[in-house]
Amino acid sequence: MNKVQLSLTFAAAVLLNVPGFAQANELGRQLAERGNCVACHGPGLNRPPDGATPRLAGQHSDYLRAAMRSYQIEGNPIVGRDHPTMKAVLKPYSPAEIDALARYIEQLPRTIHTKAQSGFR
Ligand code: HEC
Repeated sequence: MNKVQLSLTFAAAVLLNVPGFAQANELGRQLAERGNCVACHGPGLNRPPDGATPRLAGQHSDYLRAAMRSYQIEGNPIVGRDHPTMKAVLKPYSPAEIDALARYIEQLPRTIHTKAQSGFR
């Protein structure tokens, strides 16, 4: 394969993947809507109302996937997470749906707040 062929193949692969990405994103959005995640994690999953609810937007998908799967683990306090609300919220989701949720949440824009030095104690 020469350079032109290689570039064309690459360009085609990128173009063909775009709809796949958009579809996966749309699935993730629907799944988040189904679980009403914004009710607790705030608009855009980026503005939780209190310190007990984590900001999700922009978090790495690997972390999100592992966190969500660990809420689904029953009866293993060593590797599972034991928050009753999140356990109930995530119970109906399949591993593939958790994956779609994680990839959707990862690409949401995250606001980072910095505190002035005087804010530290
Ligand atoms: C009724 C409130 C509520 C709803 C609805 C809710 N969450 Fe949560 N979520 C929480 C709380 C509270 C925590 C912190 C739990 C803990 O301390 O383990 C949390 C934690 C998480 C975490 C762990 C984040 C981290 O930084 O470790 C993820 C991921 C998550 N939620 C995803 C979701 C998704 C996806 C949905 C929608 C399908 C959702 N949540 C819906 C309240 C909620």
